[in-house]
Amino acid sequence: MIEAAITPQTSAILATHVFGNPCAAQEIAAVAAKHKLRVIYDAAHAFGTSYQGRSVLHQGDISTLSFHSTKLFHTVEGGALITHDADLANKIAHMRNFGFHGPEAFQGVGINGKNSEFHAAMGLCNLKYIRQILARRQQLSEAYHDMLKPLRIGKPFLHPNAGFNYAYYPVLFESEAVLLKMVKALHGVYVYPRRYFYPSLETLSYVKPGQQMTISSDIASRVLCLPLYHDLSMEEVKMICRAILRAERY
Ligand SMILES: Cc1ncc(COP(=O)(O)O)c(C=O)c1O
Repeated sequence: MIEAAITPQTSAILATHVFGNPCAAQEIAAVAAKHKLRVIYDAAHAFGTSYQGRSVLHQGDISTLSFHSTKLFHTVEGGALITHDADLANKIAHMRNFGFHGPEAFQGVGINGKNSEFHAAMGLCNLKYIRQILARRQQLSEAYHDMLKPLRIGKPFLHPNAGFNYAYYPVLFESEAVLLKMVKALHGVYVYPRRYFYPSLETLSYVKPGQQMTISSDIASRVLCLPLYHDLSMEEVKMICRAILRAERY
C-alpha cells in the first residue's frame, strides 16, 4: 500500500505508531531503502513501546514524541525528536531555537520550539513514576480485556515483536450506530469516552487527499477509546464495562 502511493515527488514516508502500537517498521524500512526515502515516525503515542527488543524510537530517521498532558509520560506541553543522525540532530536543535548559532549569528530559519525549564521540571517529576504508570495501565487494560470478552468488538492487532505501552484502550465496534449507542450509555453514567481520530481527516474541508480513504473513514467511524488513566480505579473499570455490556443487550 505504501509503495502504491510513492511518486517521483515523494521524499519520505511518514507513519504513525497509532495508539502506541508499533508500525511494521521492518517492512517500512525495506520499502524506504528500495526507493531511497527517509522515514519519519509519528511516535506521539509510543513512549515506552518496544519493538524487536528495544525502544521503538530507534526506528526510522526521526521519531517525534508528544509530551502533552494527555500522554502517559508528559511535561504538560512539549515533545521531542529522536534521531541517530548527529548532523540532523544539530540542525533540528538550531531550528527549534530561532535558528540561532551564538548570540549574533543564525544558522538558518527556525521557530520558537523549545521546551521550557518548567516543562522539563514537570517531566522529571513524572519520569520517576514511569514504571508504575506503565504497570498500572497494563493492569487496567487487562481488566477491560477480561470484562469485555463477551462483547463483539475489535482490538488493535499487536505486533508479535512489540512491547506495548498501553497508552490507550481503543475498541472497534461493529458499526457507528453501535458506537453511538455505547457512547450514549456511558454518558448516562457520567463517563465521557473519546472518539480518537474522528472524524477521518479526508472529510475535513481543508484537506485534499486526492483519493478515497475508505479504511481510515470506516475505522474512524467505529473506534472509541475507553477511559484509561493512572488513577482510574478497578471499580470504575467495572462500572464502565457494566454500562457497555448492559447497552449491548438493548
Ligand atoms: C498521533 C499524534 N501525533 C501528533 C500529535 C500532536 O502532539 P502535540 O499535541 O504534542 O503536538 C497527537 C496529539 O495527540 C497525536 O495523537
